[in-house]
Amino acid sequence: MKFFLDTADLNEIEEACSWGVVAGVTTNPTLYAKIGGKLADFNTHIQRICELTDGPVSAEAVGTTREEIIREGEELAALAPNVVVKIPTMIEGLAATKALAAKDIPVNMTLCFSVPQAIMAARAGAAYISPFVGRFDDISEDGLAQLEDVVAAVASYDFDQSVEIIAASIRSAHHVTQSALMGADIATVPFGVLKKLVEHPLTDRGLASFEADWKKVVQA
Ligand code: G3P
Repeated sequence: MKFFLDTADLNEIEEACSWGVVAGVTTNPTLYAKIGGKLADFNTHIQRICELTDGPVSAEAVGTTREEIIREGEELAALAPNVVVKIPTMIEGLAATKALAAKDIPVNMTLCFSVPQAIMAARAGAAYISPFVGRFDDISEDGLAQLEDVVAAVASYDFDQSVEIIAASIRSAHHVTQSALMGADIATVPFGVLKKLVEHPLTDRGLASFEADWKKVVQA
C-alpha cells in the first residue's frame, strides 16, 4: 500500500515528503479553506504542491455540471504534469470523468460510499477511486467494511484502464492498518495520523535502553 498525504498545507507536505514515504497528495476545498487559502491563489497553490510532491496530486473540481467540471479539469491538468482531477461521484461527475479520461487526463472519483458507485467510477474511466471510511463511522456505520467491499468488487473485474483504490477519510492508525490488510492500493492520510503511524512506545523504550547501554559501553 502507498501513502498519500491528505492536506493542502505546504509545510506538512515538505516535511512528510522528506521522510521518503509519501507517494502523492490529495486535497479538497475544505483542506484549502483550513489553511486560509484564497480563491485567487488556488492555482498557484496547486502548482506549488505539485512541485513539492514526487507523485500524483489530486486537486478537486468544484463545478456541478459536466461542462463546468470538464473546463475546470482541463485548467487544473494544465497546471502541472502530476495533477489528477478530483471529481465527486455523481452523474455529472461520471460524464466529466469519461470526457477527461478520453483526453488522457487522470481522474480521482471522490465521495464514494458504495460498491455500485465505485464500479461506475471505474467504468467511466477513473484512474483512482476514493471510498470514504471515517464519514461512515461518523454516522455509526462500518466504514472499513464498506471499503473492504469496494476493494473486493473492483478487484473482481478488468477495466479499460488501471484503477487504484484510495482509502480516504482516514482518521486513525487502525483505519490504515485495516486498509493495508484488505489490499487497498493507497491510503490518503492527514499529517497528524501519518506522524503517529511511525511512532510506537516499544520503539521509544528500545531507543532509551540503547542510549543507556551505550553510555555504559563508553564509560567502561
Ligand atoms: O480524502 C478525503 C478526506 O479529505 C475527507 O476526510 O476527515 O473530512 O472525512 P474527512
